[in-house]
Amino acid sequence: MAKDFETMEDSNRSSNPSIHDVSDPARRLVLRAGAGLAAGSFFGTLSGCASGQPATASVALGFTSVPPSTADKVIVPGGYTATPLVPWGEAVGIAGNMPAWKADASNSAAEQAVQMGQHHDGLHYYALDGSSRGLLVMNHEYVDDGLLHPGGLADWSAEKVAKSQASHGISVTEIGFKDRAWQMVRPSRYARRITAQTPCSVGGPAAGHALMKTSADPGGRRVLGTFANCASSKTPWGTYLAGEENFQDYFATADTPTAHERRFGLKKTSWYRWNEFDSRFDTVRNPNEPNRFGWIVEVDPMDPTSTPVKRTALGRAAHEGAWVAVSKDGRAVVYSGEDSRFEYLYKFVSRDRIAPAGNGKTAAQANAELLDHGTLYVARFDADGTGRWLPVGHGQGPLTPANGFADQGEVLIKTRQASDLLGATKMDRPEWLAIDARAGWVYTSLTNNSNRGVGGNPGVDAANPRANNVMGQIIRWRDRGDFSADTFEWNHLLLAGDPANERAEAKGNIKGDAFACPDTLAFDARGVLWIGCDIGPTSLNKGEMARLGNNQLMACNPATGEVRRFLTGPVNCELTGATWAPDGCTMFVNIQHPGEAPSERSNPEEPRRFSNWPDFSPVGRPRSATVAIRRLDGGVIGA
Ligand code: FEO
Ligand code: CA
Ligand code: CA
Repeated sequence: MAKDFETMEDSNRSSNPSIHDVSDPARRLVLRAGAGLAAGSFFGTLSGCASGQPATASVALGFTSVPPSTADKVIVPGGYTATPLVPWGEAVGIAGNMPAWKADASNSAAEQAVQMGQHHDGLHYYALDGSSRGLLVMNHEYVDDGLLHPGGLADWSAEKVAKSQASHGISVTEIGFKDRAWQMVRPSRYARRITAQTPCSVGGPAAGHALMKTSADPGGRRVLGTFANCASSKTPWGTYLAGEENFQDYFATADTPTAHERRFGLKKTSWYRWNEFDSRFDTVRNPNEPNRFGWIVEVDPMDPTSTPVKRTALGRAAHEGAWVAVSKDGRAVVYSGEDSRFEYLYKFVSRDRIAPAGNGKTAAQANAELLDHGTLYVARFDADGTGRWLPVGHGQGPLTPANGFADQGEVLIKTRQASDLLGATKMDRPEWLAIDARAGWVYTSLTNNSNRGVGGNPGVDAANPRANNVMGQIIRWRDRGDFSADTFEWNHLLLAGDPANERAEAKGNIKGDAFACPDTLAFDARGVLWIGCDIGPTSLNKGEMARLGNNQLMACNPATGEVRRFLTGPVNCELTGATWAPDGCTMFVNIQHPGEAPSERSNPEEPRRFSNWPDFSPVGRPRSATVAIRRLDGGVIGA
């Protein structure tokens, strides 16, 4: 989701110390002196602050960059093709229930519930037959009601709310490579939609907690639906992890939100207006319903009858997503972040080891409770290039009943408040993470934070070193000795920007093609780090972004920092969700919200005003879709 600078959530008013207060005074002086230097030397100082141990292995980029573009199309390097697949509104392929897409958006809520949702985001390929047949599993993060219904918000109704809810969530579709092209396989026994109404169970310490109970669910263990699902990942045991990110935008509170609601960004007015026809989203009538969102949700895509599970042990936050590394002794180490200004980065270390398949169970079934038991930590980045994972555990330090935490369930439901008290580092909006398992480095996009150092907001620190940070940076860390360690070293891979800008903080230090607002991160099998960009439509192609063109997909050699522009997207889209067939010869990427209006909600009278990708129908509208990228010679993407 492109969150524009003026409207996005910014809820952290905690007084936990800035990095300068917890770091070495000598280092503090270096940083302050550096701030007045030319951008290159200042940022060079920061990049050199880790221990000097080698990072990720070098990998060659074997294509010629494409130039920035403002065209309403997908552009890839010479010798490559990009073919749209599974757009919003296509039937997912449930036997006997495959309604056709209607270009005027007049499909009903019931039809939408078995069609691809709107606004494709996190995406993963699950092989059924190697690189010739598999499942595409993806998130549908949010909706644009101006495009979703023929009349937009006019005559707002229970049916429109139901269609909006049905357009959110997760989809599972089967695809096959046939006649030199990827095609949907329909019907498929795997085809599935999970929406804002699909029953989910709750696992971990907050399951059944008093703060999770509602009148419709007095046990606090069965939640209807998941939504605001942004990034996603595939676990080593074959399941799918989806974040619940901007859940605050779906609820309406009393005139004055409670302190707990305010800390999670809930407001009197709901952007999506579900509360007008569904009292679940009215917190006066259902005060605990918001506590049932903001979790990491685990789905077994290979079993279409399985129940999604909200894994509360991983904490509650505006979770972009979660990504799994494996410790030396075989436990799951799950990294996650929350994409809001001045919020935090987390990791969870499972109590138990990852179990193999066997005894009649798949690996997914053998690890059905793996993520319900373990320790959650929040990150503190110190200015000397080291950092510490702080346990988010009841009874530890300030996480006591006296401070409002009755038990571990309450600590997890109030993960932000707990992290405030622990003194975690307030970050510039952590989006996707990517793990280089071979070298042990974990990367995350800090997409931007225009409030950094502005007004009364927290100032710059070593990890978040630029004021009015509209460009974003990619930070990386390596846990000392093992992914499960409680200390780490860190540095910046790069600071995004355009060297042609006048303002020092907007120049960046990219070696290669300029970009801004990194969001998606994913390593391919060769070790190329792919970076999807998300400049909001109010900023795109203007001001300091004027020379960057439409949002784009970059390829980066993480050993050298070299960056090349691989793909440019249609007007006002965002690039997200990079995944590959196992042979590396097809890359799937999502084109999210082409044609999005700067107001984030389209005028239903002008659905084609900004884009008409991918159909270019004279009576249609822009649709999020996946593109399948191939080389004409059938070779490995990017090599
Ligand atoms: Fe949904 Fe943080 O992007
Ligand atoms: Ca984003
Ligand atoms: Ca994102």
